[in-house]
Amino acid sequence: MSDDLIEVEVSPVEGQQWFDGEPFPLVHACRTDGAELDAVEEWVRQSRTTLNRQAMDHGAVLFRGLPLSTDQDLDRFIRAFDYPNFPYADSLSNAVRVNRTERVFTANEAPPDVTICLHHEMAQTPVYPSRLFFFCEQPAEQGGATPLCRSDILFERLKEEFPEFVADCETKGLLYTNIMPAENDPTSGMGRSWQSTFRAETRAAAEQRLQNLGYSWEWLPDGCLRSTTPVLQAVMKVEPGRKTFFNQLIAAFHGWKDSRNDPTKAVTFGDGSLLNPATMDTVAKIAEELTFDVPWQKGDVALVDNRVAMHGRRTFTGTRKVLASLVAMDA
Ligand code: FE2
Repeated sequence: MSDDLIEVEVSPVEGQQWFDGEPFPLVHACRTDGAELDAVEEWVRQSRTTLNRQAMDHGAVLFRGLPLSTDQDLDRFIRAFDYPNFPYADSLSNAVRVNRTERVFTANEAPPDVTICLHHEMAQTPVYPSRLFFFCEQPAEQGGATPLCRSDILFERLKEEFPEFVADCETKGLLYTNIMPAENDPTSGMGRSWQSTFRAETRAAAEQRLQNLGYSWEWLPDGCLRSTTPVLQAVMKVEPGRKTFFNQLIAAFHGWKDSRNDPTKAVTFGDGSLLNPATMDTVAKIAEELTFDVPWQKGDVALVDNRVAMHGRRTFTGTRKVLASLVAMDA
């Protein structure tokens, strides 16, 4: 019954970007006072084909003013989309996370003064989510925005400015090298242990998984594991005539730094050749120009198409609680 549904309106948001006359992100604001979660779920069920298309077209959809305040509310909202779940346990992500529900977990446990650079979720591994949900349970006192960047627009800009670099990305692909600790290291944005990453209790079990995934590896004297991926794509064809800069270059080059990892060694082209640091600086600058910072308000939800838009995290003060949920690729 449409009478029972909530009223939702496309609305502007400060700092919104516009590309080819389309807003980034698209914002849906709920105008119904005292809306019930049941009605929100029904609205999502009836609108999900459209919402899904909008997420892909716009890169991200921001929902404001919905009656969501807990992880359980978020879990119900997400389930209404009927997407396949992407469980953290299955992922090869190197972030340390804590699950709240089967589908919902804390976005990243890294400390507030750590910047998480723009990236496509898990583009440095062979298995990555198709979409992500972010939910603001509690905004930071200061800062803590989630920067979002349209990767298809970035790709077009880079093609103009660095045609050779883009050609190398497309033809050679990328290799990512990462050193994982023997125990979870919550002081790092990439501190997930090799045991947790590969769901392995022993070195032999980890090696089996690495081999199946096509990784090469080396055990270090301190118990850490250095692993290198098979050659992964640096550019994704999302749909005909539309490509994205689908990789972890910006994050790897500017952010993959902790007590174990040196960002200049974290990523090379697929043939082992090195990237030009000056080019990477400019790539990061252009991405920053295209970025929209989600100015989190309590209860906001962002649906991000991971194939189209990159995300990151600004530094913050105070307590910030942003929850996340990942969607597997469509069957
Ligand atoms: Fe992420």
